[in-house]
Amino acid sequence: MAVFRNSGVLSPHYTPVRLIHREREMELLKKNLEKTIHNIHQTYPAVLQIQGGVGAGKTTLSLKAGRWLEDEGRRNGLPIRHIYVNLRMFSGGRVPIYRYIVRMVSEDIYSPSLSAGELLNNLIRYLGKTSTYALMIFDEVDHHVRQSMDNSLIYDFTRLPELAGGSTVNILGSIFISREGEFRKYLGRTELSSLGAHIIHLQPYNSRQVYDILYARAAEAFHEGAISDDILEFVAEKTASPPINGDIRFGLDVLLYAGTIAESSGRRHVGLEDVRKVIAGLGAVVESQWIEELKVDEVIALKALTRLLKYSGKPTASLEDIRRMCDVVAEEMGVYKLSNLRKVLQSLEMLGVIYRDGSGGLGVRDIDLASLERYLERFV
Ligand SMILES: Nc1ncnc2c1ncn2[C@@H]1O[C@H](COP(=O)(O)OP(=O)(O)O)[C@@H](O)[C@H]1O
Ligand SMILES: [Mg+2]
Repeated sequence: MAVFRNSGVLSPHYTPVRLIHREREMELLKKNLEKTIHNIHQTYPAVLQIQGGVGAGKTTLSLKAGRWLEDEGRRNGLPIRHIYVNLRMFSGGRVPIYRYIVRMVSEDIYSPSLSAGELLNNLIRYLGKTSTYALMIFDEVDHHVRQSMDNSLIYDFTRLPELAGGSTVNILGSIFISREGEFRKYLGRTELSSLGAHIIHLQPYNSRQVYDILYARAAEAFHEGAISDDILEFVAEKTASPPINGDIRFGLDVLLYAGTIAESSGRRHVGLEDVRKVIAGLGAVVESQWIEELKVDEVIALKALTRLLKYSGKPTASLEDIRRMCDVVAEEMGVYKLSNLRKVLQSLEMLGVIYRDGSGGLGVRDIDLASLERYLERFV
C-alpha cells in the first residue's frame, strides 16, 4: 500500500480551498476590493499592501482575492481580470516586466521596440477600448526594488491617473506584496503618500495554527493512518519555531519528502526518523543567509548545477554543461535564457554558495544537494 493518496496536495502549486486562520485578513481584502467595483468611475485606483514573512500565505491570499474579484465582476456585469506578476522572475528594471504584463493581456499591443511608458500606455488604452478592467497583483516587491534599485514600477502603478492625463483608467487597483515592507524605504515621499495606508499584515502562524493547516492538507494527501498526529505535531512545532517562523511551505515540504522517503522504502507509514532527516537537510538550506535573496538568474544557474551534480555523482561540473542545463531549467521555469552565465556564477561564488576547482569545474559548497534541489523548487 502506498503512503500517499494524492501527493500533489502538498505541492507549492496546489491552492487549498480554504485559507485557515486567514479569514479576517481575507474579509478585509475583499472589503477593500469590493469598493473598487462600487466606485468603478473613481479617479484613483485602490492601492493595497500585503505584508508578511515567507510562507505566511501572502501569494495565496492575494490570488484568491483576485479570483473573487473576477467573480464579483461577473455578478455585476463587469469583465475584470487579475494580473499576477511575480517580480522575482525578472531582473533589472521595468521594461521586461511591462512586456510580460502587456503580452498577458494581448499580443496586439506588444512590440519589442516599445519603451516602458509606451507599453503602459498601450495597456491602459487597450483596457479602455475593450471596456475591461484589471486588478494588478505585484508579488515580491521588496526583492524587486532591492535588486533593481528602481522604484518606477511602484511609482507608475500608484499614479496611473496622472500618467493617463487625468482621465480614469480601467485598472481598479494594485496589490503590492512584500515581506518586510522594506521596499517603502526606497520610496520618495510622493510614492509613499500614493501607496496609501492600507496594509494587511499577515502575522506568523503559531504552532497550533500550523498544525491545523498541515492537518487539513495531510488528510487529503495521505492515506488514512499513513501519518500520525504526533508526527504532524512535531512538524508543526518545528515549522512554527525559529528559524522557520511559520513558513507553511517548509511544513508541506517536510511532509512531502518524508512521505516520499517512506514510500520508496516500501513502508506504509511515515516515521519520525524520515521527518527528522528531511528537517535536518531542509533546515540547513533555510538557515543559509543567501538562499532567500537569490536573483532569478542565480536560481537558474544553481538549479542547473545541482541537477548536474546529482545526475553525475561527481563533485563538479563544467561551464559548458552548466550552460546547456541552464537553458533547460529556464525553459521549465518559463523565463528567458541567461545571457551572462559567467557573471552569475561569479556572484554565486562570491556569496560562498559554489566554488571552483583547479581545472575550472564548479561545485556546490557544503550543503546537501537533495535538500538544496528541493528548496529551489519553490522558485518556479
Ligand atoms: N492559512 C493557510 N491555509 C492553508 N494553506 C496555507 C495557508 N497559508 C499558507 N498556506 C500554504 O502554504 C504555502 C505557502 O503560501 P504562500 O501563499 O505561497 O506564502 P507566501 O506568499 O507568504 O510566501 C502554500 O502552499 C499555501 O497553500
Ligand atoms: Mg509568495
